[in-house]
This record gives sequence, C-alpha cells and structure tokens, in this order.
Amino acid sequence: MSETSHAAGSSAGAAAEAPAVPRHVALVMDGNGRWARKRFMPRFFGHKQGVDALVRAVNVFADRGVEYLTVFAFSSENWKRPTEEVSGLMSLVLVAVSKYLTKMAGDGVRIRIVGDRSAVSDKLRQAWEHAEKLTQDNRRITLAVAFNYGGRWDVVQACRRAIEQGVPAEQIDEQWLSRNMALSFAPDPDLFIRTGGEMRISNFVLWQAAYSELFFTECLWPDFGEAEIDAALAAFAARDRRFGGIAPNTVVAG
Ligand code: IPE
Ligand code: IPE
Ligand code: MG
Repeated sequence: MSETSHAAGSSAGAAAEAPAVPRHVALVMDGNGRWARKRFMPRFFGHKQGVDALVRAVNVFADRGVEYLTVFAFSSENWKRPTEEVSGLMSLVLVAVSKYLTKMAGDGVRIRIVGDRSAVSDKLRQAWEHAEKLTQDNRRITLAVAFNYGGRWDVVQACRRAIEQGVPAEQIDEQWLSRNMALSFAPDPDLFIRTGGEMRISNFVLWQAAYSELFFTECLWPDFGEAEIDAALAAFAARDRRFGGIAPNTVVAG
C-alpha cells in the first residue's frame, strides 16, 4: 500500500481539542423507502433519488473540508429484502456508476468500495474495479461505498487473514486488526450520521466507530441536503471529545 495507513490508534491517546471539521464522516443513508412511500411511489424510486442525493452530498462534504466519507449503501443483512428490491439495487449501482463516474472523477473524488465482493456479479465487480482505478489519484475527498458490508464481517475477515498468514497471537493487537480491516486507508470516523430517524448502528463501522460522535436525524436520506449537512457539522463542532481522558482546559484539583 503506497498511501499512509491511518489505522494505528488514530483516535487513541490523550484528550485533545476536537478539530472543527471531521476528517472522516460515516453515513447511514437510511429512509429511501419511506421517502418514496410518502409520495405513493415504489421503493425503488426512493433508492434512485438516494443516489442523486449522494452525488450532491459528496461535493458538499468535500467543500466543507471532510477528507473521507464512508456511506452505507447495502448491508450484509439487506439480502433479506424481497428479491426484486435486491436486484433493483444491484442494477441501480451499475446505472449510477455509468451515469456519475465521469462527473465524480472530474470533481476530484477518489472512490473505494468496502465490503464482501465475493457475493456480487462479475459485472458489478468489474464496474467497481474500473471506478477505483479511474479515481485512484484523486485527492479532494475519498468516497468509500460500503456495499455488502457489515461491521461483523469486517472483524471476521481480519481474523481470518491473521490465521491464513500464520500471524502469531502476540502480534495481534488493535493496530494489527485496524490495519487489516476494510477501512485501513482512513482514520477512524470522527462523526457518524444516520438519516431516517432510527437510532441504531445496524452493523455499520462497529470497530471504527469506537469514539465517533453520533448524530441522528429524522430527515429521510433523499432530502439530506446542504442545510442538513451543515447542521450535522455544526453539531459535531460543538461536541467535547475526550477519548476517555479529561477535557484539555479542566482544572485538576491538586
Ligand atoms: C436505505 O433506505 C437504503 C438501503 C438500505 C439500500 P431504506 O431502503 O432502508 O429505506 P427505509 O428505511 O425502508 O425507509
Ligand atoms: C442500514 O439501513 C443499511 C443501509 C442504509 C444500507 P437498514 O434500513 O437496512 O437498517 P435497519 O434494518 O432499519 O436496521
Ligand atoms: Mg431502512
């Protein structure tokens, strides 16, 4: 790997003043189905609008100085949905790549796909490889698309790798695991946002969100625009991150 690995204890250490802008935002794009239902439209229409919302959001986050945006597009558990919704989502990804890849590449977006690729079609795998290759030198923002991803899958695949490589038990520590997990190219998410009103993690970045600030909003994903992004970033800027320590200006009684 030519790039710097941020995985080694990026959020550990002494408490520090939180930077005003998160370097890495993890985002659960939830509420597409409800957004469509409110308009008496099929769920697929909501997913389609969701793709457009994502393309807009990436540019807004980049403009605000966010370096990494990891979005939850399809979870390990989303296979439980009706077959036609699953196949609709698979074809939507292909359409989205052909519709938006050139624009995103031109906008300076580096695209990475994180998740278990073994279960998706060859066509989809090839589209992703093409998107990653085409954008690999872009540096404005990294968009990591979590697809067939689960936080538990990520921990398991890192453990399997350790065993396959014959890594001795004493060499397995938090840094080793972080370096061998799907988001090893990014620092841990500073801010975790979920749209759609549910207050749960749903098996997203379980390991990496250990010290993420959490932000939940009722806003349904297709409606999550510039104003909502700024509200989330403002909430983050007002948080006091301690990482288990104490606030920097705390007077410690002697
Ligand atoms: C999130 O929207 C997108 C995916 C899971 C692919 P949903 O499809 O979960 O929308 P709701 O939660 O049913 O409204
Ligand atoms: C989480 O949303 C997954 C994605 C947004 C891709 P879900 O809609 O699948 O989560 P649950 O089922 O409400 O927990
Ligand atoms: Mg949902």
